Amino acid sequence: MLDFKPEDIVGDYKEAVLDLYGGLRRLVFYTEIEIPYPDGKLIVSTTDKNGFITHVNKAFVEMSGYSEDELIGSPHSILRHPDMPSVAFKDLWDTVNRGEHWQGIVKNLRKDGAYYWVKATVIPNIRQGKIVSYTSVRRKPSRTKVEECTKLYASLK
Ligand SMILES: Cc1cc2nc3c(=O)[nH]c(=O)nc-3n(C[C@H](O)[C@H](O)[C@H](O)COP(=O)(O)O)c2cc1C
Repeated sequence: MLDFKPEDIVGDYKEAVLDLYGGLRRLVFYTEIEIPYPDGKLIVSTTDKNGFITHVNKAFVEMSGYSEDELIGSPHSILRHPDMPSVAFKDLWDTVNRGEHWQGIVKNLRKDGAYYWVKATVIPNIRQGKIVSYTSVRRKPSRTKVEECTKLYASLK
């Protein structure tokens, strides 16, 4: 996964070390700048069974700040924001691995250190009874939900 570079960051930033799945650690730089979810757009990505990105749409590329080449083949935790509690992602993976849909509000970290909130629906793609991949479709979350989750996630950290 790509390292954060100070020259990519817009504005004052803080640093955090994320402990990711499989013993992976990542130093991230993050700012207090929020980029509003673009009206009327769906942000879509697909991963393989292990959460490595296999497909992204144009809106995903635009919002994340990464190029398509940087995204394809990276773990989806490339967008992991330090304010997100790991229990949210445990719930996501437990739910989709049971073959069910997961819906939740996620704060994502962009390449430039800013963040954006999404309302995500993650579904397992099942072929001949087996999960072959996962797709997430994101929409604009309500401000009320974002405020609720800001408090909830801070309490879960
Ligand atoms: C289809 C799909 C989409 C995902 N989208 C995101 C996302 O937008 N942001 C994010 O932080 N994690 C997302 N995840 C969860 C990550 O795979 C990962 O679990 C999370 O970032 C936490 O990292 P960790 O599991 O390495 O601790 C997604 C997972 C799947 C299967």
